[in-house]
Order: sequence, then structure tokens, then C-alpha cells
Amino acid sequence: VPRMPLTCSPVRLLSLLLLLLTALEIMVDAHSLCFNFSIKSWSRPGQPWCEAQVFMNKNLFLQYDSDSNMVKPLGLLGKKVNATSTWGELTQTLGEVGRDLRMLLLDIKPQIKTSGPSTLQVEMFCQREAERCTGASWQFTINGEKSLLLDAMNMTWTVINHEARKIKETWKKDRGLEKYFRKLSVGDCDHWLREFSEQWEAMPEPTGGRSTWR
Ligand SMILES: *[C@@H]1O[C@H](CO)[C@@H](O)[C@H](O)[C@H]1NC(C)=O
Ligand SMILES: *[C@@H]1O[C@H](CO)[C@@H](O)[C@H](O)[C@H]1NC(C)=O
Ligand SMILES: *[C@@H]1O[C@H](CO)[C@@H](O)[C@H](O)[C@H]1NC(C)=O
Repeated sequence: VPRMPLTCSPVRLLSLLLLLLTALEIMVDAHSLCFNFSIKSWSRPGQPWCEAQVFMNKNLFLQYDSDSNMVKPLGLLGKKVNATSTWGELTQTLGEVGRDLRMLLLDIKPQIKTSGPSTLQVEMFCQREAERCTGASWQFTINGEKSLLLDAMNMTWTVINHEARKIKETWKKDRGLEKYFRKLSVGDCDHWLREFSEQWEAMPEPTGGRSTWR
């Protein structure tokens, strides 16, 4: 840790604050991973029907689209993850989940009133603290309306938009689908988060690296 001179310019104050926040974060050891999928029921040729972004501790580090069917690593963490054995597994899963979510959207399409393509935005989230999974959830936004929430820790559904009540009933009855949501968030997401946490903690100091990531 560099010695801080006693004079306090705003820049020094800011870097001190960043240092403090990082120390706190490592102490609490809380990390999160968020997968953000945007699915369209159809798209023009050359346009992706699935786009995905992956965030670690709210920092975007991976991008995927169904058109190129490629995962693009971003920033320092992206580079590090690109070089690990998890990479292939993650790339494959992003493509598979994109296809599964599109099937899900096509299934519920008759229940959605819209003139253009229907859209489904899905946020899968997981969190680890003190070496264990302390949060896992799914949020579904249908045609731009925040609609459903699934807490995968206790498999509890919350209806945000009343119009999605029937969709929730359909999904809730589907044991295989519930198992799928649980396995991906409490299982796979948590597993990757454990691996990426090691990469994250090995990253350079915030003043030299992390704050200039994006
Ligand atoms: C997920 O993506 C959508 C559309 O690309 C965006 O509106 C939303 O804010 C994103 N969510 C997060 C957590 O970044
Ligand atoms: C990711 O890994 C591949 C193969 O090892 C390499 O060709 C590519 O340049 C890497 N991308 C980045 C952004 O590091
Ligand atoms: C499920 O867990 C969440 C926290 O993860 C909590 O807020 C909610 O009350 C729980 N629901 C039930 C029915 O236990």
C-alpha cells in the first residue's frame, strides 16, 4: 500500500476511498455474477436473436451474440477468464441457455399480445459470501415489462406484472423447468463465480487496474 501524503487533493481522496472499498470488499468476500440475456422471437437476417452480457461485481466482462455465436472477452477479467479451462464450458452454456430461453419465449408467445417480435429479457444472478452461495435468482422481463422473479434459493416465484400470472403458473407446474432454473443459478453460476473470484482477487490494485477496466 503506497504511503498517503497528508495533503488531501480530491484525486488522492478518491483513490484512498477506492482502496478502502476494495479492502472492505475482500474482507466481506462478497462476489456476484449476473447473466443478462436479451431474446427476440425473430430477427432480420444478420441480426442476433440472442444477446448476452456477463457481469462480475457489476463489471461487464463477457459478451455473446447468436449471430456470430462467439463470446467476446472484455477487460482484464475477460482476458483472464479467456485463458482458463472454464472458457469452453461457459461459451457452450451461453449458447445453450440462449436457445432454451428462445424456446421458452416461443412457448409463451400466444399469451403475449404484440405486433412486432416478442422479447424476453432474463437476468440470472448469483452471489457468494464467505465461501458459500448466499443468493440466486432469475428475473424475467417480457416485452419490456418486468414480469416475474424467481428466488432460486427457496424456489419462490413473485409476480411483478399481473398479466404474467398465467405464465408463472405454467412454469411453476413444469418440474423439469424449475430444476433447470435451480441447477443453472445455484449450481453452474455459483461454480463459475467461485472460479472467477480467484481471478478477481488476483487483479491489480484499483488505482492501477480495476478502476480503469471499462
Ligand atoms: C440487461 O440488458 C438490457 C438490454 O440490453 C438492459 O436494458 C438492462 O439494463 C441490462 N441489465 C443489466 C443488469 O445490465
Ligand atoms: C482469447 O483466447 C484465444 C485463444 O487462446 C486468443 O486467440 C484470443 O486472442 C484471446 N482473446 C483475448 C481478448 O485475450
Ligand atoms: C425466499 O428467500 C428470500 C431471500 O433469498 C426471502 O426474502 C423470501 O422471503 C423467501 N421466501 C420464502 C417463501 O421463504
